[in-house]
Order: sequence, then structure tokens, then C-alpha cells
Amino acid sequence: MSSQPSTNPTPSPPPTGKSMDAIMALCKRRGFIFQASDIYGGINGFWDYGPLGAQLKKNLREAWWQDMIMNPAWGRKGPNGERVRCVPLETCIIQHPKVWEASGHLAGFADPMRKCPGCGHFVRADQLWDVLVVTSEWFNSVIQEFHPAPEGTQTPGVDSERLLKWARTKGKKLAPNLAIVRNPEVTLSWLATRINGQPSAPPDVIEIVRHLATEQLNATGLQDPCPRCGAVLGTPAAFKLMFETFAGLTQTEDNKVYLRPETAQGIFVHFKNVVDSTRVKVPFGIGNTGRSFRNEITPRNFTFRSREFEQAELEFFCHPDDSMAWYTFWRDFRMAWWQSIGLASENLILREHAKDELSHYSVGTCDVEYRFPFTAPGFGELEGIAHRGSYDLTQHQTHSKVKLDYFDPARGAMVKQKDGREIPAGERFMPHCIEPAAGLDRGALALICEGYTVDPSRPSPEILKLHPRIAPIKAAVFPLVDKDGMPEVADKLTDELFKKFGHGGFIETDAKQSIGKRYARMDEAGCPFCFTIDGDTLKDQTVTCRDRDTGAQQRIALDKVSEFLGEKLG
Ligand code: GAP
Repeated sequence: MSSQPSTNPTPSPPPTGKSMDAIMALCKRRGFIFQASDIYGGINGFWDYGPLGAQLKKNLREAWWQDMIMNPAWGRKGPNGERVRCVPLETCIIQHPKVWEASGHLAGFADPMRKCPGCGHFVRADQLWDVLVVTSEWFNSVIQEFHPAPEGTQTPGVDSERLLKWARTKGKKLAPNLAIVRNPEVTLSWLATRINGQPSAPPDVIEIVRHLATEQLNATGLQDPCPRCGAVLGTPAAFKLMFETFAGLTQTEDNKVYLRPETAQGIFVHFKNVVDSTRVKVPFGIGNTGRSFRNEITPRNFTFRSREFEQAELEFFCHPDDSMAWYTFWRDFRMAWWQSIGLASENLILREHAKDELSHYSVGTCDVEYRFPFTAPGFGELEGIAHRGSYDLTQHQTHSKVKLDYFDPARGAMVKQKDGREIPAGERFMPHCIEPAAGLDRGALALICEGYTVDPSRPSPEILKLHPRIAPIKAAVFPLVDKDGMPEVADKLTDELFKKFGHGGFIETDAKQSIGKRYARMDEAGCPFCFTIDGDTLKDQTVTCRDRDTGAQQRIALDKVSEFLGEKLG
């Protein structure tokens, strides 16, 4: 995540204006997302999809499958001037442990963790200040005791009396181990020296709170506070992220296996099988969707960081000389794709990784990032597009001792044949790989957050403006009243729409409650169109078509409803 700690002393509401609490409540109320094992109190980092959520995610997965594998990049030509070619694959969650040895996950897939000696809480060392700003109640309380910086200065004012009062009352409950709570006078006098003593380089609020949290900047450097209780955290230690289990009767080291932390490696290990069993030629891609597992230390922000999640990954293999052109191609396409299914361009950014962020084998990586309500005004990663060079194939070739290079007869220097013709000599090379790796749970969450709209001018103000391609309910058919021949017409139309569009989602029908309440239920569930059968339908064979986003209504011919919906769903 690239959300930056805010230096604003009074936390302001997110600029998206959308409340995560309200979004989560809607997800539960309308059956999009439930906490896993809900009736047992839930299990941290695991989420289930309800009827509407399961269909939404299926639509997202299928949109990805269609636009990345079946008709890659919407049929566009690649940098080589030819149609892009991709094939699918479905691989196991559990692979041979050597796969993870070769990929580097066994040795390196770990997060630096710090344990709090005060309350035993673990925090990711590299995310501490994000966690403090976003979730720590004591951090935000302390910040509120600062006044904004006087005009023309950068240093915020501090009211010692108020801080002392806070330390003796609220602070004791929120963060008993924080230095200013344990020893307020000493800490405040240090703070005064710190602020007054360095007028040329005044500390900002974050820096002051950092110091406050641990008494002073001393010989050991900055010491970071526990977001829960304020005690100084211990030194970082590696925490392995792969879930382990055993395959076989005995739970011994020999039988130890791992739940995959990414779907990508299943693709690399089958590169040769795919080349040998199909007629694909480099450049081409292999796509794979499925569950991945990471024992995340701090699962948070709803489904954003979960321990079980679904990925949709493409590994695109190409000649090293063409790899930068393919990297740019996929990077730009992925950005356009997320926009095509409804994410507004102003909430999306493409962030190129700085040199020091890149893996040692990568010459380029960027993230498509979305402005989630919980990251705003910053952004959170939705998808990574990485130029992985030949790292993975080379690693698997070394560890498996199976040759994974590729021979391209159409490349290489031109050689003269006996008959005088010139033909390429062919070239053997290790393909480079471009990897667009998307998260379907983050995608679903971004689409829900984007669609969630509150319009106080509507009788039921909560609306989920999902793109018709993704919406889990494609249409609703309502008889205005449950009599006078209207239900029969509604039934017939429902059947017709179901046959045509039922593969992509529900076609709802409902005769209960007022028509306004039925519309409101559909608005909340993200259904783009409602068709109402009323008295006029029986006379002139027209229906009311209501648009979710505008609430506008128009009359259309009953026998044109299916055609109308087909055009709208695309
Ligand atoms: N093979 C490359 C790879 O796995 P990644 O950036 O670690 O790269 C790709 O993961 C995508 O998977 C991320 O952009 C994100 O959307 C999703 N993802 C990763 N960890 C996740 C988690 N703990 N919870 C939900 N989604 C996650």
C-alpha cells in the first residue's frame, strides 16, 4: 500500500466521502460479503461471498478470463503487429515443495515483524506508521492535542496543560505504556526542548509524536511505539507467510507441503508442457485464476488484505529484446481494463516502482492502484504488472534440471541455403516474462466502493452503481400489482430474460411491497434496470423501464425489452 501518513493534526473525512462502515453494512445486509465462520464470531483474515457477492466475483473473474485469455486485450494487436495469443491453465493449490524452493518463497517470503513486549501484539515493521495513523486511537488522540502550526511556521503548537490532562485520563486507558502517559512531565519537558531548541529545523507533527511515543531520541535512535498500548516495540524478526500442512499419513518434515502464496508458479512449472501440447509460439501468455494463501500478520481493511484470496495472473512469455515493449503494452491495457468495468479514472493511478523497490531480477514493475475509502487520499494496490525477466524459468530449470528454454526457428541470423535462398538460422533463448497479477477480491472491493453512492435526494439514498457487465442482478421484472393479469406477463418476460441473460446473473421478479420499495432494494443490490408491468402494458404492450443510476423512467415496447437489455449489458 502506498497510503502516506497524514500530517494533518485533525483527521479529516476521506475525500471519497464514502464510509467503509456503511459499505460493509450494505455488503452484509444485501448478501455480498460475510465474515467467514460468522456465527462463531468470524475468523480474522477470512471472508466469504454471499449470493450477490459470489455472482459479482464470478462476473469479474469471467470478464478477466474473456479479456485476458479468450480474446486477449480485446483483440488488439501486440507490439509485434500480431493478434495477442493466450491460453488458460488450472493448477493445484499444493505443489511440490521444490517449486517454492526454486521460486525463492521458502527462503525469502517473510515479513519483518516486531513484537510488543507490553501487550504481545505483532506489527509489520515496514507498515508501523501506516497502522498508527489509520487504526491507532491513541495516536489520533495525541495528534488532536496539537494546534495547527501558526501562520508562516511549520511547527504545530502544543498545549502542555491539555496534553498532561490527556495523559492522566484518556491516555491511561488508551496507551498505558506510552512514555507521555507513564512519565508526562519528563516527556513534556523534553518536547519543549526539542521544539524550542531547533527553530531552524522544526519537527512536524508526525516527528513530534514519534518522539513523544518513546520519550526521547536517544543513542539508540528512534524507537517505535505499539499501536495498541504504546510500549516500545522489539527488534524486527522474519515471520514466514506461507501456510504449512502435511500431505500423507505422517506429519513429518518429509511430508511438509505449503498452500500456494501465488498462482504464478503453477504457470512457470508448466511452461514446457504447454508449449509441447499446444501450437502456441512465443510470444504468448498463460493465464490462471485461483485461491492463494498468505498468513498475513495484519489482515485488515475488509477483504483488502486477507489470508485467503483469489488471484488472476497472466504470465506472458516473449523474446528478451521485445520484453520492454510487451511490458508497456500490458501495463497500459490493464489500466484501460479496470476503467472499462467501471472504475473511474480519477480514482485509479499507475505507479511505477522506484529502482529501490524493484526485485533484483526486475527491470520494471508498476502497480495499478485504486483510491479506496480507507486509503484516501492515498491509493492501494489492485494489481501489479511486473517485468520478471527470465528469473522464474531459469530458477525452475536450475532446480528441476529440465530444460525450459525455447527455440524459435524464425529468429537468428539469416543463412544461405544451397539453393541460394536465405532463411533464419533459428535462435534458442530463455523467454522473458511480463506478469499482470490482479487480485479478484481487491477488484470486487474496488468495484463495490466505486459503485457505492449516497444520493440524499432519492427516497432510498444508498445505490450501488455497478457496471452492467459486473452487476450480479442483471434486471428485475415487477408486476405493479399482484393481480389483473400483470404477474403472468411479468413471469413470461422474466423467463425470456432469464434464458438470454441468466448465465451472467440473476433476473429478479418480485410482486410484494410498494413499487418504490422494490426499486430501492434493486438500487442497493446494484441491479441496473427494472421493468414494470402495469395497467397500460395490458393495453398497449409497453412497460416502464427504470434506470438505477438516474432513477429516470421511459416506456419501451414489451417485445423490445430483451433487445434493449442486450445492448445495455454489452
Ligand atoms: N505473482 C505475483 C504476485 O503474487 P502480488 O503483488 O503479491 O504479486 C498480486 O499479488 C495481487 O494479488 C495484488 O495486487 C493484490 O490484488 C492481490 N493480493 C496480494 N495479497 C493479497 C492479500 N493478502 N489479500 C487480498 N489480495 C491480495
